[in-house]
Amino acid sequence: MAYLDELIFRRRSVRKFKPDPPPVEWIENMVLCGARSPSPRNSQPVRFIRLESAQPRERLHDAMNEGRRRLLSQIEQAGGAKKLRNYVNSYFRFSEFMFEAPVIMCLGTSDEGNDRENTRQGGAEIDEPGRRRRDLDITVGLAAKGYLLKGEELGLASCILTAPLLYISRPEYVLGLDGLDIRCFIVSGWRAEDPPPLERKSSAEIYRVL
Ligand SMILES: Cc1cc2nc3c(=O)[nH]c(=O)nc-3n(C[C@H](O)[C@H](O)[C@H](O)COP(=O)(O)O)c2cc1C
Repeated sequence: MAYLDELIFRRRSVRKFKPDPPPVEWIENMVLCGARSPSPRNSQPVRFIRLESAQPRERLHDAMNEGRRRLLSQIEQAGGAKKLRNYVNSYFRFSEFMFEAPVIMCLGTSDEGNDRENTRQGGAEIDEPGRRRRDLDITVGLAAKGYLLKGEELGLASCILTAPLLYISRPEYVLGLDGLDIRCFIVSGWRAEDPPPLERKSSAEIYRVL
């Protein structure tokens, strides 16, 4: 199997890490690989913010706990559907482990430079917010894949997370990152679990030729 195929096929999301931090140069290298992804008109809107100090990590964690309490109390006030409560609590489990990871990276998009692009192109994009949103989501996804795969090559495991955004709708405000729109988090480190391969859809299910 070609090396890239091997990396892609063996990758699994890992949610338990050893406490030792990986070398910072490795993380910077992962960021560079993520940032080399395609972007609309080479606008390069993706920004990577690593939460290293205790303070931003704690602020985010507190905001997540607060968001969970708020959601649970809203559910309570609305009659307390058990299914909704379970949903809020189970997504919390898929969020909170991020604070045990040695590397927490926020992936956001920046608006910086987009006005200039619009002016140059005669403002054609201004009235297409749906398209812009979609393009930014795709661009973040591509950047995330470059970042994850480089980590995989270096021997670091990762997990991408969006569940925290259920509890913190504007993490950029919590972190004082005005002008950014945080789309996901990626945690990484040395793996402390080895999840088995997952069942994947067959090529007949995901691919057809018209
Ligand atoms: C956009 C996106 C958001 C995700 N959000 C979370 C999350 O919030 N918490 C989590 O534990 N895993 C999250 N995951 C990881 C998926 O659960 C995981 O990729 C999926 O179960 C397949 O497993 P694998 O990554 O090991 O192949 C997310 C994945 C993607 C692509």
